[in-house]
Amino acid sequence: MAKIELQDWPAPLENGGETVLETMIANGVPFPYSCASGDCGACKGRLLCGEVAHDSAPEGILSAAERADGYVLACRCAPKGDIRIAALDELVALPPARRQRGWVVAQQRRRGDVIVLQIRPQQPVEFLAGQFFYLKFDNLPQRAYSVASLPGSEELEFHIRVVPDGKTSGYAARDDLLGSEAMVDGPHGHGYWRQNHDGPIVAIAGGTGLAPMLSIIGAALREDARRHIHLYYAAREEADVYWEAELQALVRQYPNLQVTCSLSRAQAPAQGPLPRRYERVTESLRQDWPDLADAKLYVAGPPRMVEAVAAVARELSLAPRDLHTDPFSDSVDHALDGALRTWVRRWLARWRRPPVALPQAATQES
Ligand code: FES
Repeated sequence: MAKIELQDWPAPLENGGETVLETMIANGVPFPYSCASGDCGACKGRLLCGEVAHDSAPEGILSAAERADGYVLACRCAPKGDIRIAALDELVALPPARRQRGWVVAQQRRRGDVIVLQIRPQQPVEFLAGQFFYLKFDNLPQRAYSVASLPGSEELEFHIRVVPDGKTSGYAARDDLLGSEAMVDGPHGHGYWRQNHDGPIVAIAGGTGLAPMLSIIGAALREDARRHIHLYYAAREEADVYWEAELQALVRQYPNLQVTCSLSRAQAPAQGPLPRRYERVTESLRQDWPDLADAKLYVAGPPRMVEAVAAVARELSLAPRDLHTDPFSDSVDHALDGALRTWVRRWLARWRRPPVALPQAATQES
């Protein structure tokens, strides 16, 4: 048995060959993590002493330079002997997740095949801005959706993109949904707003990744209306911009809030109330932020976009502890791809190590 000493944790933990993250979870340590499969970087830590066997990880999530510097992903490594490790993020006990009934109290159709649902849970639920919930309708598979509401809200708001053959998203688009029952399970996830930070906030939302960013931005502005925040709303085309009027109203209310739409595939400049850029969001980030050293960066959207943003942010001097990601896919192909990748990685991990139960990774639709 190897021993894992975690900085700021009172007792060493015993490891029987499983990943560092699995040891943390099995011992009830509130070590930050999200995907448990090497795709988000939430479990990044620093090895202070000892050696680990580390599986491969996307360069954008854990770069070669970071690895050489001692950074590891707790979900992708296992100790080779006794180790000492530090979490990059705070060890915070998150609000407890629970499963309960809820009812659809509002439904709106938006551009870009997006359905906005409000669900009132049977009991008020405590959550942090930017977390996600699993929703289950009828006998359909449960899916993870980030919440757009502010903590303390009675209703939970979700932005759901309707995808071809998507069972859950197709159900969310039904005409007779008001009053329907849904099972709500949560909150989950570590892509939440960090309150103990005074610097600027840079929020990057890809598609319906806007939902958790609205929650984070709203909570941050509620606490300090003068906070400097720049939201990049990344979409492919004009028709994907589904929340413009509300963002415009926020910008009017809070002069320190900037919102930029970065459209990667738009053919011709179009007019809109919010400023447009006709480029990838990574280019917008580079142009506006030569140095991200004082900032907190929150990113939610497709895994490839999250990875690309993470790589650029590193070039712009963002410290690893200041990057908070929520990668997900709302397309059938991506969801299946992500689920398959996660399953294969977990199967390989189980094959070599004793099993420890991990929660399901967050994919939005299949
Ligand atoms: Fe380890 Fe996501 S990379 S939890």
